Amino acid sequence: MRKLTDRLDVAPSATAPALVLRRWNLADAAELIAVARDAALRRWAPVPVDDEASARRWIRAQERGWETGERLAFAVTEPRVGDGAGLLAGYVVLKRAVPDAPSAEVGYWTAAHARGRAVAPRALDALTRWAFDAFAGEGLRRLELFHSASNEASCRVAQKSGFAWARDVPPLPPEFPEHGHLHVHPRGPAASR
Ligand SMILES: CC(C)(COP(=O)(O)OP(=O)(O)OC[C@H]1O[C@@H](n2cnc3c(N)ncnc32)[C@H](O)[C@@H]1OP(=O)(O)O)[C@@H](O)C(=O)NCCC(=O)NCCS
Repeated sequence: MRKLTDRLDVAPSATAPALVLRRWNLADAAELIAVARDAALRRWAPVPVDDEASARRWIRAQERGWETGERLAFAVTEPRVGDGAGLLAGYVVLKRAVPDAPSAEVGYWTAAHARGRAVAPRALDALTRWAFDAFAGEGLRRLELFHSASNEASCRVAQKSGFAWARDVPPLPPEFPEHGHLHVHPRGPAASR
């Protein structure tokens, strides 16, 4: 696969620090284990991680995703004062199971300690711009976002990131037992927020 930009910088807002989106690496394991314990994450976007071995497996799977081009996952980090390394604040992913398809899917979560300061919408906005730029030549024309209908915080992220509601989606058990929403972001200017 051709070389893609794998670091995205998001400027600070009036109320929140800058973000750096970069590839996952094995040094993230300890923070990932702590973050994955959160109840909301377990309910809405479970990360199958509970110890060092499972954290390393999950991080290696993200590395493989970049190698195959099927899952392009970024760790979202906030600056940590002092040592220069970022504090793990979240995750965004572009899923391209079918290369050259006109649509791809996005996913995201924010660590419990970083919620409520627009980490997810700002990271998703950066991912969206990057995806349309990086895959314009492959014909990417729309990004899709699914969430459970009762996940109101996720619905707000979609709206704030320019993903307009497109339709309700029936349940698909066992993975998706609840009905959901499909939101779509076409290539070009975002829908109104
Ligand atoms: C949904 C989620 C990604 C939002 O991330 P975020 O970085 O906190 O995003 P925002 O700061 O823009 O907040 C979005 C909404 O979350 C809610 N929220 C705000 N502060 C919050 C907090 N401290 N804790 C929990 N939810 C909060 C609000 O409804 C907010 O909407 P508003 O801005 O209109 O008030 C995050 O709550 C999360 O990771 N949840 C669990 C995993 C998940 O649901 N992933 C998406 C699966 S489709």
